[in-house]
Amino acid sequence: MLRKVQVAELAVGMYVVDTGLSWLEYPYLYSREGVIENGGALREIVEAGYEEAFIDTEKGSFGSARAALDSRLTASLGTAAAASDDAAKASTSESPAAPGKPGEQMPLAQSLAEAKTLYQDCLAIAHDVLREVRNGGEVNVAASEILIDDVITSAVHNRDAMVALAKLRVHDAYTFTHGVNVAVLAVAFGAALGISRQGLKQLGLAGLFHDLGKTGVPDAILNKPGPLSPQEFERIRDHPAHGCRLLAGRGLPDAVLRGVGEHHERCDGSGYPQGLAGEAIHPFGRVLGVADVFDALTSRRSYKDAMLPTRALGVLYGMRGRDFPAQLVERFIKFLGPYPVGSFVRLASGEYGFVRRGNPGRPLFPELVLVLDVSGRPCAPRPLDLGGWQEGGPGIAQALDPDVFGLDPLDFLMQPGPEDALR
Ligand SMILES: [Fe+2]
Repeated sequence: MLRKVQVAELAVGMYVVDTGLSWLEYPYLYSREGVIENGGALREIVEAGYEEAFIDTEKGSFGSARAALDSRLTASLGTAAAASDDAAKASTSESPAAPGKPGEQMPLAQSLAEAKTLYQDCLAIAHDVLREVRNGGEVNVAASEILIDDVITSAVHNRDAMVALAKLRVHDAYTFTHGVNVAVLAVAFGAALGISRQGLKQLGLAGLFHDLGKTGVPDAILNKPGPLSPQEFERIRDHPAHGCRLLAGRGLPDAVLRGVGEHHERCDGSGYPQGLAGEAIHPFGRVLGVADVFDALTSRRSYKDAMLPTRALGVLYGMRGRDFPAQLVERFIKFLGPYPVGSFVRLASGEYGFVRRGNPGRPLFPELVLVLDVSGRPCAPRPLDLGGWQEGGPGIAQALDPDVFGLDPLDFLMQPGPEDALR
């Protein structure tokens, strides 16, 4: 279990984790992976001015420090999802007209093909918007609004496909994909929370534009290989406010501007640029913050590999109550499930496959397409629905990175599945 702690809470024997969070945006996060060996190492961390770190409570030797840790640390990710189950149900039942209730879902292969086209259109818009802003031009709000409308429709009816696609692209530039991914994730998650269609439109626009203000940060700072000076970090801290300035006066609702301006604010007041805390942070700022961190963690960058979704959810779980409201994080975990569509997993039986459909009622038992046999050799893709498998019996043993096996999820998920044969 990962947990975010203040540096003052660190103790000798604790195991620090490198979460992969960007040091540009989290310069005070100590992230050299490994056990804190002695008091000298601990003093160095404190004296270097770090403020926070992630620890893995299942590694290292905690000694007396471990006893002081919250007993909730032993809760598993699955427990978190289960704990939020009632809350999530309550949320949707409170909103009978919520667009988050998916209608009949179309077959994955078909919906992935449609979602892929829409995703490419979104990327093109994100590309144009950033280029225009960099050249001192106008933000094309109208074109973005039309696309976000399509994203909402797709996220409601092809939720799995849109969310999967946001995670399946591999080679596109992060600058463009990140805004689109955050918009898609936020809209799909917002729909599950019961936010109205009008609200989703504003949330999606805020997601698309959330990092627009980074166009005001010189490349020399964004690409600086070493630590930032306080003045340079101030430029980074200004990017949410700068984004608001770029978007102001264009008739956008206040909620869009607040979502953009407050996506780095944190529950405990440690965020920026205003240091807002708790309820003072706009709900869109909180939702975008969660989607932003999840996409950043699960994206491959020049300086780090992509983190598996399951582990990224563990990092977010470690941030609950401090960075983001605990209930919001738990709902996000519940929303994505422990094995989001596109996850590559090994079964206890030794076979390997991709998750092609979630199972909201029993999230640990999704529907798979098996692609490797027990020896790790390619086999004819074969559907396998774990939905009928026994609780407590053998199931998914582990989530893995398909890249390591040279496999691309889209090669398998875009093949017609069993539901296509029934149509
Ligand atoms: Fe940002």
